[in-house]
Amino acid sequence: MNNLPKKILKSKKNIFITGPAGSGKSYLLNQIVEYAQTNNILAAVTASTGTAAINVNGITIHKFLGFGIQQNKQYVKTLIEKPYWPRIAADINKIDAVIIDEISMISNKQIELIDTIMKEARHSSKAFGGLQMIFVGDFLQLPPIGRGVGYAFESLSWKEGDINVINLTNNYRQKETDFRELLNAIRIGDSSNISKHKEILLDREIKQMDVDPEKTILVSKNDRANKYNLFKLDELKGKEYKFSAIGKGEKEYKNSLSKSVLADETLIVKKHARIIMLVNDVDGKYINGTQGYVANVFASKDGKEYITLELDNGNIVDVHKYTWTAKDYNDKVLASYEQFPLKLAWGITIHKSQGATIEDLHIDFAGLFAPSAMYVALSRTTSLDKLTVSNLRNARNMTDPKAKRYYEILLNKD
Ligand SMILES: Nc1ncnc2c1ncn2[C@@H]1O[C@H](COP(=O)(O)OP(=O)(O)O)[C@@H](O)[C@H]1O
Ligand SMILES: [Mg+2]
Repeated sequence: MNNLPKKILKSKKNIFITGPAGSGKSYLLNQIVEYAQTNNILAAVTASTGTAAINVNGITIHKFLGFGIQQNKQYVKTLIEKPYWPRIAADINKIDAVIIDEISMISNKQIELIDTIMKEARHSSKAFGGLQMIFVGDFLQLPPIGRGVGYAFESLSWKEGDINVINLTNNYRQKETDFRELLNAIRIGDSSNISKHKEILLDREIKQMDVDPEKTILVSKNDRANKYNLFKLDELKGKEYKFSAIGKGEKEYKNSLSKSVLADETLIVKKHARIIMLVNDVDGKYINGTQGYVANVFASKDGKEYITLELDNGNIVDVHKYTWTAKDYNDKVLASYEQFPLKLAWGITIHKSQGATIEDLHIDFAGLFAPSAMYVALSRTTSLDKLTVSNLRNARNMTDPKAKRYYEILLNKD
């Protein structure tokens, strides 16, 4: 193992590990975790999305610090009144470092909330409460979601954190020179070889209906993923099982809860359907973002149905219905929503794919809108042979000018 993990942890400084897709950022993260584990250093391993967390065997930072979908640093006042705050605060005080992968999708506001929570828990006015922060990611990949939010590097907390940058430059994911050049050009918005790059991609274009059934399909938006999923479900033989969600509570709360929960109002599955989990299992058998297949659907003695899954890690698990709740400040339940905590997942959004390596990949570019989405999608696979694309005419390369400028300044400094 190289000595970088040791140097990083011993320095106790805040670090930002960056570099293009496939440069080994998450690989280095894992080496840091390994070094920490064998040297009595406690590091929390987290990421900005559920799928990114799975990639590094961690949990989401939202879950770890208990802030969920909140963006505002004022939320800390509410958080410290929650019954689970003492446990969160105790955890924050136990550890030596916090690692966050895929930091590009964490907003400036969320970073300030994270900073505020750590300060509060550790009763310290130092940046991030004096904990060592190890940020990992690439700001030339997907930006945070939300109106009027900025990148983490635009926050005051980032500046006060006095962060040392490690810029990785190799590419371990893609071997072909042509493909690497294409990806690098797309990442930074360099159009000097655009006709060559267009030709390479045109060569990979197929019709939507010819997509190889073994492939994971990346799409721009959730509703397109849903469309693909129903299409694929239709192709499976066997009995169809339908489950309707049950919503309770006052209409206003009920509606807003069912809108924020990702589980379908009507879930339809068959044996062998590809699925993704939407919540963390209390026993840790799966987490939000774990993928697998439906093995069977059974009825238990009391007539309640449950679904048996074969997860991608080979584990077989039984999944029962889950109840999401909306509560007021006194933890009184205002509304609830009951459904199986899973969704069909042949098609997934580019947003969910960031961080993953997907060998057999099809990208449907229809409706592409976010900056860097084209780069994130294309950089998931290892080789052009394993890639097919559709709706290439909708593929637009957009590089965020602020992120580009951030790297220009960063790299000129070295
Ligand atoms: N130093 C390394 N030696 C060998 N393989 C590596 C190394 N770094 C990364 N890889 C492999 O390359 C792929 C991409 O690495 P990853 O860490 O996921 O990249 P990033 O997080 O920068 O996008 C992974 O399959 C990983 O196992
Ligand atoms: Mg990564």
